Amino acid sequence: MNKNTHKLVILVGSVREGRFGPVVASWVAEQARLHGGFDVEVVDLADIDIPLTLPALSPKAAGDDYPRPAGMAALTSALDGADAFVVVTPEYNHSYPASLKAAIDWHFTQWTAKPVAFVSYGGAAGGRHAVLHLENVLTELHAVTVRDGLAFPNYFTAWQDGRPLDPEAPARAKTLLEQLAWWARALRTARETEPYPA
Ligand SMILES: Cc1cc2nc3c(=O)[nH]c(=O)nc-3n(C[C@H](O)[C@H](O)[C@H](O)COP(=O)(O)O)c2cc1C
Repeated sequence: MNKNTHKLVILVGSVREGRFGPVVASWVAEQARLHGGFDVEVVDLADIDIPLTLPALSPKAAGDDYPRPAGMAALTSALDGADAFVVVTPEYNHSYPASLKAAIDWHFTQWTAKPVAFVSYGGAAGGRHAVLHLENVLTELHAVTVRDGLAFPNYFTAWQDGRPLDPEAPARAKTLLEQLAWWARALRTARETEPYPA
């Protein structure tokens, strides 16, 4: 991977039966590949073992010795290796799904000093309530959240054949990815120059 290519992990946050999340994530992955600055990996939380019962110590306190289940290894390794994230999230009861919170809570250092962008979908608010909560939570983990998220209100009428009907959507995705790449470059350089004082 050259220094202008960033490892991008796209997280599919919902695990519900019949969910829409993978459709959005596939389109985002396509936009990221078209952008050209990312080595793209989609991680679907539905494929990961994410127990709700956490070990006694917090992942922050335990560091590398945190006892995660074997079925979580693919997620941990993807988060570890990432230079940047896109979290694809729906809105459940004015927040984000419990699957996403559980996945976040099993990790800590994996998020530190890395940028996170959001692509959300839902009813009238397009998942913006979910994103507001995620911004708050990820700041606690020393992640850097990108301001301009991509939101799809009333996604059930706004998408067809795996793509948003809004003709501006690819351009808005490009802007989001440009901002994410900028942060990924800046923060990777900073992490390589000096350990983050967490
Ligand atoms: C438990 C639950 C709560 C929901 N609450 C909201 C909500 O507060 N706001 C909203 O816009 N949509 C809400 N919805 C609708 C979801 O945005 C919609 O079902 C979406 O498809 C969920 O994403 P998914 O298909 O990837 O699971 C809710 C759906 C579920 C299952």
